[in-house]
Amino acid sequence: MKLAIIEGDGIGKEVIPAAVKVLDALRMDVEKIPVELGYGKWERTGSAITDQDIDILKSCDCILFGAVTTPPDPDYKSVLLTIRKELDMYANIRPIKPLPCVNGILGRNDFNFVIVRENTEGLYSGIEEIGEDASYTKRVVTRKGSQRIAEYACKLAKSRQNKLTIVHKSNVMKSDKLFLDVCRSTAAAHEVEYGDELVDSMAYKLMVSPEKYDVIVTTNLFGDILSDMSGALVGGLGLLPSANIGAGHAFFEPVHGSAPDIAGEDLANPIAAILSLKMLLEWHGNMTEAALIEEALESTLNRGIKTPDLGGSFTTEEVAESIVDHIRIKFKNTYGTD
Ligand code: NAD
Ligand code: IPM
Ligand code: MN
Repeated sequence: MKLAIIEGDGIGKEVIPAAVKVLDALRMDVEKIPVELGYGKWERTGSAITDQDIDILKSCDCILFGAVTTPPDPDYKSVLLTIRKELDMYANIRPIKPLPCVNGILGRNDFNFVIVRENTEGLYSGIEEIGEDASYTKRVVTRKGSQRIAEYACKLAKSRQNKLTIVHKSNVMKSDKLFLDVCRSTAAAHEVEYGDELVDSMAYKLMVSPEKYDVIVTTNLFGDILSDMSGALVGGLGLLPSANIGAGHAFFEPVHGSAPDIAGEDLANPIAAILSLKMLLEWHGNMTEAALIEEALESTLNRGIKTPDLGGSFTTEEVAESIVDHIRIKFKNTYGTD
């Protein structure tokens, strides 16, 4: 596997090294290609990402990414959005699944759903007009964009409980009528059981009865907001992994950002990054290694080895070391080697 590794900024520089330690412990045949991108690179070189960086990313089998800082400066183009667009990674997959020994805001663990977020259009079109007295962002919804994300969500639903919830705001934004219609007809064609919700009501219902949902498909910004909100259901943003998938590329990253408020202190929870690595391995077909990560993570949490966001007193490195130790012991018991 040729794997691009991007730490990025802030806690990306802590959680990605933690995930790479776990990857190294798995003793796989991986060619790691470090790629420096982000705000730090922009401050140093005047460019946050270059055409050559994009070419390197395109040449890799997949990408593991930490987080980047994006200043609100209108002249600064988000690195992450550039990569998603350049590599046409149209599906952003965000599983929301409780972890053992971690309490979410509701104190329950009877839910397991996935947010499938359209990743290339909507309010992220980048078509903007910024003025002194008025500014505009064009919301783009296309049949092609809606169709491919609907297909992805339906295939995923078929491999799970076959239930799809289409989230939109078509009562106000008529652009969402196209999204809703395409998702409905795609679900009907795939014989997936479906319903729809307005996004505001969906936010409420997820906080009250998350167990009712299986696969949620929605437009770009709604998916962004609902996924951070759902972080509270599992116990924190430091726990949510994600995948960005396109026809030829796959990119795995925590849902969280660069967390400048805790960066550089070895406090960041590395679990979202480590679970992103697990998603990457599953996508690549390395199911045994992915299962080993899950087992090692469970054992770590069962032993109360947690970062402060989960009420623990362990560091980023200590959590990663515990996962690595479990994997090492497993190798020793299985193969008799250190
Ligand atoms: P954030 O996700 O970085 O942080 C939100 C809150 O969650 C903070 O209090 C932070 O300390 C906490 N948190 C996040 N990850 C954590 C972890 N692993 N362990 C423990 N606590 C964690 O969101 P923000 O503060 O709104 O954004 C900071 C910067 O990150 C901004 O520049 C934003 O544009 C960028 N951002 C980048 C990405 C990305 O690269 N994928 C995603 C979101 C935000
Ligand atoms: C995410 C982030 C990004 C987004 C930002 C950093 C551009 O919040 O991946 O959820 O809005 O998609
Ligand atoms: Mn986000």
